[in-house]
Amino acid sequence: MATDKNLELFERARALIPGGVNSPVRAFRAVGGTPRFVARAQGAYFWDANGDRYIDYIGSWGPMILGHGHPRVLEAVQKAATEGFSFGAPTEREIELAEEIVKHLPAVEMVRLVSSGTEAAMSAIRLARGATGRSHIIKFEGCYHGHADALLVKAGSGLATFGHPTSAGVPPEVVQHTLVLEYNNVALLEEAFATHGADLACVVIEPIAGNMNFVRASVPFMRRLRELCTQHGALLVFDEVMTGFRVALGSAQSVYAKAIPGFKPDLTVLGKVIGGGMPLAAFGGPRAVMEQLAPLGPVYQAGTLSGNPVATACGLATLKEITQPSFFPALAKKTQALVDGLKAAASEAGVPFAADCEGGMFGFFLLPELPQNYPAVMKSDAPRFGKLFHGLLDRGVYIAPALYEAGFVSSAHSDEDIARTVEAAGEVFRSLRT
Ligand SMILES: Cc1ncc(COP(=O)(O)O)c(C=O)c1O
Repeated sequence: MATDKNLELFERARALIPGGVNSPVRAFRAVGGTPRFVARAQGAYFWDANGDRYIDYIGSWGPMILGHGHPRVLEAVQKAATEGFSFGAPTEREIELAEEIVKHLPAVEMVRLVSSGTEAAMSAIRLARGATGRSHIIKFEGCYHGHADALLVKAGSGLATFGHPTSAGVPPEVVQHTLVLEYNNVALLEEAFATHGADLACVVIEPIAGNMNFVRASVPFMRRLRELCTQHGALLVFDEVMTGFRVALGSAQSVYAKAIPGFKPDLTVLGKVIGGGMPLAAFGGPRAVMEQLAPLGPVYQAGTLSGNPVATACGLATLKEITQPSFFPALAKKTQALVDGLKAAASEAGVPFAADCEGGMFGFFLLPELPQNYPAVMKSDAPRFGKLFHGLLDRGVYIAPALYEAGFVSSAHSDEDIARTVEAAGEVFRSLRT
């Protein structure tokens, strides 16, 4: 039998890197087996260390909306690299990227560029606390906002109690201001505001939660959340690290603005697509709030590599492509075709299956209907999901190796890729039935 180079690399990696990976979900622990080590990628595919090709539905967990190695993005990155990797001084491209973001998000008047979604979410919360002079924050169970200490928290035993750390190394005092509520639960939200409204700096939410697979905040829930934040002077922080420039050009906030006239979040957190695969993220909002940041205001925030010239070139070139008028309708059509195909294949095989999508992001569950919150997501059949994951992997289709992660389609996925994926899924669904 030929040697498995993925396994060899995994063993080498495990000797030096905890768990063999530099971010936990890559380790395949939820599904078992050997992670694929990527040798190279092009368009909708990547090739692993054994030379096997996969249709990639992760796309670096969201950023690769144009697929891998888009020629115009590559050209922009190569040109920027020859001009200098990093200066620690301002550049024109940072302004251009800020202009591009502001143009498409009416809620954002000013932006600050940073290097990761974690940094952007952490900084937005500091800004919300600084701007309101309040300490408490609300987050929702199943939403992820990066790994800042105060956000690694699970719900306490009752509504009036604050959370407990979910990670060792986070002292309980650090999460004592973080309330964790159930997603899409209006009654709990109202109760929390009634009890803590005057002390709330902000509510941070993934409007379409991609860290519990794909769960939309319902329109009535979002409408009430907006009303309560406004009424109590708490800032509504949309974490659009995943959904920003991915579910629509105007991001998830534009999806809610269609259903709720005049709807806007206060602060917006971005990452992933705006960097096109390079380390770049941002947060933004109204001028009066953003001007609370250093060097203008008292809220400190900084970064050696913030607004990196190569990353901004990559982000700008990516945004240039996705702002073409036909881009999002075509991407949404492709994603919908994938979701419809998967639904039909599961139904034919008699496998309980529910799926949803928006723009270039999708999610599916081995459940009879779409869940509305984290406990419902966790009712998914994990061993069955593991079989589905490995069945697809064996057939050259790479989806997220955990049932609580979303999937991503790029403009590089062809109709044939989608058809092949649906065919592979049909085979696996039939094997799940028996
Ligand atoms: C919604 C959301 N917020 C924040 C983050 C953290 O971003 P990063 O991994 O770039 O630190 C992620 C990462 O997946 C995310 O999905």
